[in-house]
Amino acid sequence: MKILGIETSCDETALSLIEASGDLRQPKFKVVDTALYSQIEAHRPFGGVFPSLAKREHSQNLIPLLTSLLEDKTKAKKTPQVLEEETTQTLTEIFSREPELLEHFLKYIPTREKPDLDFIAVTSGPGLEPALWVGINFARALSLIWQIPVLPVNHMEGHMVSVLSEKSPQIHFPAISLLISGGHTEIILIKNWGNYTILGSTKDDAVGEAFDKVARILEMPYPGGPEISRLANLARKNEFFSNSPEVPEIKLPRPMISSKDYHFSFSGLKTAVLYLVKKLTAENELTEEIKQRIALEFEEAVTEVLFTKTSRALKEFGARTCIIGGGVIANKHIRETFAKLKQEEINVLVPEVDLTTDNATMIAMAGFLKSFRVKPEMELEILANGNLKF
Ligand code: KG4
Ligand code: ZN
Repeated sequence: MKILGIETSCDETALSLIEASGDLRQPKFKVVDTALYSQIEAHRPFGGVFPSLAKREHSQNLIPLLTSLLEDKTKAKKTPQVLEEETTQTLTEIFSREPELLEHFLKYIPTREKPDLDFIAVTSGPGLEPALWVGINFARALSLIWQIPVLPVNHMEGHMVSVLSEKSPQIHFPAISLLISGGHTEIILIKNWGNYTILGSTKDDAVGEAFDKVARILEMPYPGGPEISRLANLARKNEFFSNSPEVPEIKLPRPMISSKDYHFSFSGLKTAVLYLVKKLTAENELTEEIKQRIALEFEEAVTEVLFTKTSRALKEFGARTCIIGGGVIANKHIRETFAKLKQEEINVLVPEVDLTTDNATMIAMAGFLKSFRVKPEMELEILANGNLKF
């Protein structure tokens, strides 16, 4: 089965063409091709993702990405297809808020043969609604022109299934999933694909958000996760060679680490960093080395909380598979810490590095698994839902 995945929930514009086979017990995936444009540079001056800019960037980039994706897979038509009045009218309605995308679409799509596809999987939430709408409208327009059905997909289910990739690991249910991204922090009990119970989530900031905010406090650029991780690794190196004996010990809290539930809270941790940095700045003691020590202690505090709670959930539910997804699992220290669960015969699955942050392959894969529960449909009304839940 051939599936086109479309992802525009945040600041990556992504398309992916996959071939899926097998069944829910043993799904198999082959990535035919991907096209991705990261808007990070555009958002960096704002210190975070700016929704209306994300929407504009998606509108500008979808057609160029599709062009490169289809270039060697479909033929150019000898004479461009002439669209019926009614079709053009419907496309104009679909893209009423993306005139630029409509223009690109009308220029390019009628000149290309339709690709060999079974359905289109598109992210419908959670995420930034203006950004989500661009992908949804694009999917609906392609569906209309190519007469191919569409299936809306939950972005977080995408992160969850990103561990499958082409390796198709054996998954024994129940499994516990830890989803850690810029907008979410959740521990989920998976009884089967499609059968999810959220055991706990964050009461305030998401982990990735905390990384981003702490980076900003330390005057590091957006996105903060990779920056904090880089600083923390420098501190580890210094510690190893004991290059900085006079750096005072820095201690940060491990919020909710002993609470009986599976909820998280990271805003207090961020505030603790803020006060510490203010104090050190006032005392003129915020050196590069101390910044690195703060990053290290922050990364360790976050990792300990995530690890402790996830381990407890694995035990409580007798799960032997731990699935981790979301941009924050790009973090090396978190990956290495969770790899220790293998000693307890837990099968720890993390995505390959290019599938950790937002991408469309995970959306196409989640679409395939969902298609066993819900049939993709033609002329589907899909609503963007910024707060979509499982
Ligand atoms: O999943 P994702 O690409 O987008 C959302 O769905 O939110 O996650 C982005 C988040 C950002 O907050 C970013 O700072 C964080 O993932 N991130 C990291 C690392 N790389 C990206 N956090 C910690 N360590 C990293 N190496
Ligand atoms: Zn994401």
